[in-house]
Amino acid sequence: MANAEIVAIGSELLLGQIVDTNSAWMAQRLTALGVNLYFKSVVGDNPARMKEVIGRAVERADVVITSGGIGPTQDDLTREIVAEVTEWGNAQSEEINQRDKQNIVASGRSEIIELTPEELTAWQQAMHPVWDQFAGVIGQDVIDAAIAAEGQEIFDMKCSVCHKINERYVGPALSGVTKRRKPEWIMNMALNPDQMIKDDPTARQLFTEYLTPMTFQNVTEDDVTKILMYFRSIESDSSAAPAESE
Ligand code: HEC
Repeated sequence: MANAEIVAIGSELLLGQIVDTNSAWMAQRLTALGVNLYFKSVVGDNPARMKEVIGRAVERADVVITSGGIGPTQDDLTREIVAEVTEWGNAQSEEINQRDKQNIVASGRSEIIELTPEELTAWQQAMHPVWDQFAGVIGQDVIDAAIAAEGQEIFDMKCSVCHKINERYVGPALSGVTKRRKPEWIMNMALNPDQMIKDDPTARQLFTEYLTPMTFQNVTEDDVTKILMYFRSIESDSSAAPAESE
């Protein structure tokens, strides 16, 4: 069973100037959901101490919920610290993974097979029916978010040299792109930009405006499907309107 930890942030909570009713409410909800709650901490608005408390929480709990730190600057601070601590946690896990892997190799009892990118894609595709099967249990939204996260990674690696989401760069800002172009169009543009710039009036029009040809980034159809999921996820973040789903 998952275990959670609540971190309430705010000097006024720490000093007892206000009572932390949020944590009490969350604790009740978590228990009702069958989530174990082992720790609840209160920390003042101090970055070093926030980092310490959140760091320890991330280390020992499956789910960390922060509350408080009210106001735009404080929210940003919390976000930054959570990002920093998560990065640290991920690095830690990576280190453990690598160590375990080396132990497996050293034991000589198992063989580690590195998949080529093509094999990896084939494996991921083979897993899709399993995802579909469990969609009802895990929740389609969680699966979509996982695919979107993969899409963002691919986008950062292969597209962000020329594209930003919210501003014009070498290429157009891609915010809202799933609303102005059909998914097939975006797919074709990503898989075969040369041809699109030559044959498609919209792509040609864009080229005359940006004067740099978009180049093929060695992406697969599966990669672009994930990137599309990422684009849609940021569309639905920024507006309440549902993304086009043709
Ligand atoms: C070398 C720079 C470059 C890279 C890398 C690049 N693009 Fe582009 N992209 C452009 C340019 C420039 C345009 C405008 C059309 C043109 O001039 O070719 C464009 C246009 C687009 C459009 C149409 C935007 C609109 O407003 O309709 C989409 C969608 C797009 N790119 C997606 C991608 C994706 C996805 C990737 C990563 C797989 C990617 N691009 C990688 C330069 C790039």
